[in-house]
Amino acid sequence: MSFPINRPRRLRRTETIRRMIRETRLSPDNLILPMFVCAGRGVKKAVTSMPGVAQMSVDNIVAEARETWAAGVPAVILFGIPERKDAQGSEAWNDNGEVQRAIREIKERVPGMAVITDVCMCEYTDHGHCGALTGNDVDNDATLELLTRSALSHARAGADIVAPSDMMDGRVGAIRSALDGNGFNHVAIMAYSAKFASAFYGPFREAAESAPQFGDRRSYQMDPPNGDEAMREVALDLEEGADIVMVKPALPYLDLIWRVKHEFNVPVAAYNVSGEYSMIRAAGINGWIDEERATMEVLTSIKRAGADLILTYFAKEVARKLRA
Ligand code: PBG
Repeated sequence: MSFPINRPRRLRRTETIRRMIRETRLSPDNLILPMFVCAGRGVKKAVTSMPGVAQMSVDNIVAEARETWAAGVPAVILFGIPERKDAQGSEAWNDNGEVQRAIREIKERVPGMAVITDVCMCEYTDHGHCGALTGNDVDNDATLELLTRSALSHARAGADIVAPSDMMDGRVGAIRSALDGNGFNHVAIMAYSAKFASAFYGPFREAAESAPQFGDRRSYQMDPPNGDEAMREVALDLEEGADIVMVKPALPYLDLIWRVKHEFNVPVAAYNVSGEYSMIRAAGINGWIDEERATMEVLTSIKRAGADLILTYFAKEVARKLRA
């Protein structure tokens, strides 16, 4: 039956009615805040390419984690910015490294908060690639050992979830067996399963000081046009023991978030990455867009596409707004 019997506008007439039939509801429970941990005390160094985001020393990270928890956000994901980089990225498994200290401090002072750690070599290697090099090639199998060392070090510090973001083949299985073999079978793995070689990581590389010193990441991160391959990557990570799978970036890949959710029916995370964040911020600062509404619309669309969890630099502000 159609017009004039049917008038969809009837259910859009008042805010109360719209509220009653709203299909997708964003909640602070869905959000994860990424944070950048650096050395020192009292450090809060603004990242110019990401207005509102800063590299922070452990003391400030804890303060920020506490505020974020108070706003209703259940989890943070930590990225480390080591003082010392080398070819292997050995600071990544230093039990007294920035990330490891931040994990211990957050678990002690904000005990309810779930702590997730990014497991990747790119912030720790002097060449900026996500693994060990053999010549100019990122050596897959040699990298697995380095990743398991970092994941174990994070687990020893008390991480609840480790999140490998390097896109090496077999890393989820390698990390799962290392965790299980060392008394950490309770530590979950959130795999960056469908991570694309994206232009939208640009601002993050300033934040994490992790730009590759030569070449690019296209021999390990996925080619943006490939959707079926993303499903194969997800299937492999699940077989290897991933508890949560991720699609990254989020907005240009909403179709894949949808496919993963519907083809696999497992917990799905989506990373609303630095470039997606900075575009909205920049347009907001210039007065070209209503930043708050644009942010809500984007995050809601990611959830509508099927994401259970959204990693976003807007997490704290959005959680506050949702609770207001
Ligand atoms: C790699 C990593 C990257 C991001 C998260 N983990 C960057 C990259 O692959 O170069 C990007 C996150 C963002 O852009 O917000 N360790």
